[in-house]
Amino acid sequence: MARVMLTGGAGYIASHTATVLSERGHEIVLLDNFSNAERDVPARLRGLIGREMPVIEADIRDVDAVSAALAAHKVEAVIHFAALKAVGESEADPLLYYDINIIGAIRLLQAMQAQGVARIVFSSSATVYGQPDASPIREDAPTRVQNIYGRTKLVTEDLIRDLARTGKLRAAANLRYFNPVGAHASAVIGETPRGVPNNLMPYITQVATGERPYLNVYGNDYETHDGTGVRDYIHVMDLAEAHALALEHILANDVAVTVNLGTGIGVSVLDLVGAFERATGRRIPLNIAPRRAGDVASYYADPAAAAAIFGWRARRGIDDMCRDAWAWQARRSGVNDL
Ligand SMILES: NC(=O)c1ccc[n+]([C@@H]2O[C@H](COP(=O)([O-])OP(=O)(O)OC[C@H]3O[C@@H](n4cnc5c(N)ncnc54)[C@H](O)[C@@H]3O)[C@@H](O)[C@H]2O)c1
Repeated sequence: MARVMLTGGAGYIASHTATVLSERGHEIVLLDNFSNAERDVPARLRGLIGREMPVIEADIRDVDAVSAALAAHKVEAVIHFAALKAVGESEADPLLYYDINIIGAIRLLQAMQAQGVARIVFSSSATVYGQPDASPIREDAPTRVQNIYGRTKLVTEDLIRDLARTGKLRAAANLRYFNPVGAHASAVIGETPRGVPNNLMPYITQVATGERPYLNVYGNDYETHDGTGVRDYIHVMDLAEAHALALEHILANDVAVTVNLGTGIGVSVLDLVGAFERATGRRIPLNIAPRRAGDVASYYADPAAAAAIFGWRARRGIDDMCRDAWAWQARRSGVNDL
């Protein structure tokens, strides 16, 4: 049992992780500036887990506020989710991304150091690999970052590795997520993209509700089993469980690890659309569009390291991902066919 601060605690992945941590007996403290989260997420979370938790409204760049929160709640470890995450926006405004994602991480680490909190789990991304030579991708594959967002993740990983190497952090886990999708089975929390979704699953669910007329499929002539792009979709609750195991691993061991979190299964756009149609009985009209610059044919994880290091494996498949993503979106959109 540990007292853990979740930065970006009201966000998509953090809120799901909070449910698992709480179930496993950890005490959670949420810190968020609510720049990309709905105000009532903490209340919904309290309802789900059946207990109170401290919620601090603060920016991760505010060393004094973060420091005070770490001290007040006797935090023993931090899971650092807070960041901006849109690749396109990062290319449009690099300094904003350096500021929040990199300076923000440095300020957080300063606050942690000031309070003697020396264990961190960090939300990194598979985007650090850029154009991989092949899939499945292992953690020792080259990191050929291709955009500002990816750069901020790799730099933050490096900062954390440096601090661990020099003994300033006792233990750390950099977790490289592949493509998180789905929602808590209760449909009480889920993903709430603002505007046009950047990711495939929320786009599909919005086509299913009629909020968008069709799904653009960018390229159907890739060297994949059906010509469409192959990715590694991972259920957000599997991801949440991985955070709990990673946290428990770094609480018990003074180590610095970097691991992929994916299923290891490549799923094409058409596979995902097919699974969604089967799981929900809704049809998704498609529009085949040209390839997008920078997209790769196949991108999926070798998840063996996470299994070997802290005994984690994804348990949920694409049918579960589609069912839970749809239950969440249907509830939000007031679609009544569940
Ligand atoms: N969702 C994905 O596809 C994906 C994939 C790989 C990595 N990640 C990483 O996982 C983490 C969580 O992603 P998510 O999908 O849950 O995003 P999210 O936007 O739902 O959650 C991030 C949270 O951080 C908060 N936040 C942002 N800037 C802040 C600041 N300066 N101070 C305090 N709080 C701040 C936001 O309000 C939000 O609640 C991010 O670091 C993201 O880069 C996400």
